[in-house]
Amino acid sequence: MEALTDQDGIKRYLVNINVNGDPYTVIVKANTLLVNLLRDQLDLTGTKKGCELGDCGSCTVLLDGKPVNSCTVLAVEADGRGITTIEGVARSEKLDKIQESFVNNAAVQCGYCTPGMILSAKALLARNPKPTEQEVREAISGNLCRCTGYVNIVKAVLEATGD
Ligand code: FES
Ligand code: FES
Repeated sequence: MEALTDQDGIKRYLVNINVNGDPYTVIVKANTLLVNLLRDQLDLTGTKKGCELGDCGSCTVLLDGKPVNSCTVLAVEADGRGITTIEGVARSEKLDKIQESFVNNAAVQCGYCTPGMILSAKALLARNPKPTEQEVREAISGNLCRCTGYVNIVKAVLEATGD
């Protein structure tokens, strides 16, 4: 990874990342968090910031297909890797099956947790297309919802596994 030094003496790095299928080359500081790179530099504000401590899951994105809390990942760690954010889930204005299921099951209230929930659920269904209720609950256990009580969210994920 190429290191650059700015006039202010602070080192910056040239990072190449692929986000939702699009390649980006960005300049970041050593301590820039992935969530801030996505939201502030790439304007992908669907990824939400909550606790910024790795506890709430609202900033969940997929890093090479695996869910991570993007507030605990440095932007430089994402160099050369692929990221999926909620903006990359629907394609050509068609909602993903999980998104449709969240709508149909009233699994969204304020919506703050929803991007992270959907990405955690997508990662689960990619590795386990027919999960049990317990497996769904485990997969979203790092995503806190302050509104719904989880019942409809779990139902939505289970229904999205249907053909
Ligand atoms: S904002 Fe990242 S886990 Fe809460
Ligand atoms: S819908 Fe409000 S936090 Fe989950």
